[in-house]
Order: sequence, then C-alpha cells, then structure tokens
Amino acid sequence: MKKVLVTGGLGFIGSHTVVELHNAGYEAIIIDNLSNSSIEVLDGIERIIGKKPVFENLDLRDKSAVQGFFSKYNDVVGVIHFAASKAVGESVENPLLYYENNINALVYVLQELTKMPSANFIFSSSCTVYGQAEKMPITEDASVQPAASPYGNTKQIGEEIINDVAKVSSVKAILLRYFNPVGAHSSAEIGELPIGVPQNLVPFITQTGIGLREQLSVYGDDYPTPDGTAIRDYIHVVDLAKAHVVAMHRLVENKNLEKVETFNLGTGTGSSVLEVINAFEKVSGKKLPYKIVGRREGDITSAYANTDKANQVLGWKAELSLEESLASAWKWEQKIRS
Ligand code: WQD
Repeated sequence: MKKVLVTGGLGFIGSHTVVELHNAGYEAIIIDNLSNSSIEVLDGIERIIGKKPVFENLDLRDKSAVQGFFSKYNDVVGVIHFAASKAVGESVENPLLYYENNINALVYVLQELTKMPSANFIFSSSCTVYGQAEKMPITEDASVQPAASPYGNTKQIGEEIINDVAKVSSVKAILLRYFNPVGAHSSAEIGELPIGVPQNLVPFITQTGIGLREQLSVYGDDYPTPDGTAIRDYIHVVDLAKAHVVAMHRLVENKNLEKVETFNLGTGTGSSVLEVINAFEKVSGKKLPYKIVGRREGDITSAYANTDKANQVLGWKAELSLEESLASAWKWEQKIRS
C-alpha cells in the first residue's frame, strides 16, 4: 500500500482524510501532537476503517524529531499537511505561537521532502487568503488580500514558501483553499471537537441545540446581504476529505499541470447565518434560541467558491448538501454528549 503522511491527522479534517485515504487504498501514517485533538480520535478512525493507523505523537516544531521521523518513514509517497493552529482570534492574541507552529513546522517538513527524489505535498490553505474578495463566487485568481489576522498571514506565507521551494526542488504541491468545513462522518465515530467555547458557527449551533450553550449570538444582521447576515460556503468535511485524496492521487500519478496548483474547495453555494439556523431547525426538529448582536471584529460579508477549476481540472465536486452537513453535525453532537 502507498503510504501517505498526514500531519495533524487526528484533527477535524485530518481524521476524515485518513478515513478517505484508507477507502482509496492508501495507508495513512498520522503525526499529531494532540495540542488540538485527542487520542480517542484514533479509536474512532479504527472503528470506521477496521484497523488502527500508525500514529506518531510528534511536535513538528522539533526539527530533529521531524528529521528522525523521515529517516524512519522514508517510503511515504506524499504528505498532507494539516498540522497548524487555526483559531483566528487566538492568532491575534498570540501571533508568535502561530508563526512558530504554522511556519517553522512547515519549513522542517519541506526540508525533509526536498531530500527525496520526488515529493508530493498537499497544503491545507484557506479562503481566508482572499479577505473580502471583490467578486462572488471567488475564483483562484482572485487577488490575495493583506491578511486580516496572523492566522491568515501564516496561510499566505505558507503558500509563498511552497511556491519558492517547488521552483528549486523535486517538490510538487497542491494548495487547497478550504471554505467553511462543517459536519461529521456519517458513522458519528469522528467529527469536530472544538476545545472550550466554539468559535465557529456550526459547532456553536449544535452545542446550543443539545443545551450546552444557552443561545447563539448572531454576529450582525446589518450586512449588505438578502437577510442582513453574513454569507459563507459551508462544505461537508467528508467532501473536503475526498478532495485531498483526489489531489494526492493527481500528484502521485504525475497528472499535475504545474509544479504548484491551487484549488478552491467549496460547494459553490453561499448560505447566510439565518439560512444555516433554519436548515439546522429543519434537520434537528429543534427551535434554536438565538439573538442578534453586533458584528464580530474581522468578519467579512460574503465568501463562496467558484468551483469550476476544482470540478474541471482536479475532477472533484462537493456532493453533500448543507442540510446533510448539519444533520451529520447534529448526529455527532448527540453521540458525544450521550
Ligand atoms: C461563520 C459565520 C460569523 C459564530 C473561520 C476562519 C477560517 C476557517 C473557518 C480555518 C460568520 C457567524 C459565527 C457564532 C455567528 N478556519 N457566526 N455566531 O469566520 O467564516 O471562518 O473558520 O481555516 O479561516 O476565518 O467561520 O464559523 O467562525 O463564522 O454569527 O457564534 O457565522 O460571523 O459570518 P469563518 P465561522
């Protein structure tokens, strides 16, 4: 079996990608330092795929540990790099944590890859690099705006580092710019595990639905949108995971058209906060208590993907609907609170 290293493989998107790699006949080797995930996720993955993936508890900020890992696993066909801190607000409070964790770790992994005759690298990027794009839906050639947070800056810098490295080494890369990942595996064995009070909309909604949170605060209803609330492109995490497998296969099979390719991963449909609330109420049968409050600092009005390039070049398309995403998130919330 072809081995693929998945850094951050016990995280939300990483764990779902490990499952889809298995389904596609790859063997995932997981690295995670458990700073934003738990070892129980490994058991959840095992219950889904029927075997426990190889797991190394390793901090990618430790350069010698990264070197040691690659000398031990020198037969991986590629790396999918999820490991990073990703809380926008926290990155403003603690920028150096983000620059060390999201940049140093990336550099150490790339240094090892450049020693290989051929290296396939998938980078977890984000639509956050676009800021508030001028035109909707957003295409990959939309201009990258000055980052609104250190988190977003680490994604922009990461993309630039990868481009520079690919120019002078054997590294081939695909940058995947996620829109808003939501939902959970249909088995409810893995899902999103926010630590503390969820920053993101959907886990806050499901925690409100289960009674963990009193009510949802809707951050602003004075945006220039049809219902006044902000619009995002909510993509089911399983669809997102499948895109990573398609991307890795593209590199392994040398089908890439450039040394570095970039794809937006979204559904192509924008949904407002109120539309998400309504969809949740429909799939859960629960009335969701919420109140409209002021806008959140740093939020943009609207972001949803133009999916033509992902559909036509990468050969991937999101298949699951917003309602299916919310139903799976709700099933997961009920499971972990039972
Ligand atoms: C979605 C919408 C909020 C919570 C962030 C990161 C992005 C990516 C995904 C990592 C917005 C509104 C939210 C709440 C609300 N993360 N909202 N009440 O901000 O689009 O993207 O997460 O890659 O990089 O920026 O996602 O889920 O936080 O917010 O009204 O309690 O829901 O204002 O309009 P966001 P989100």
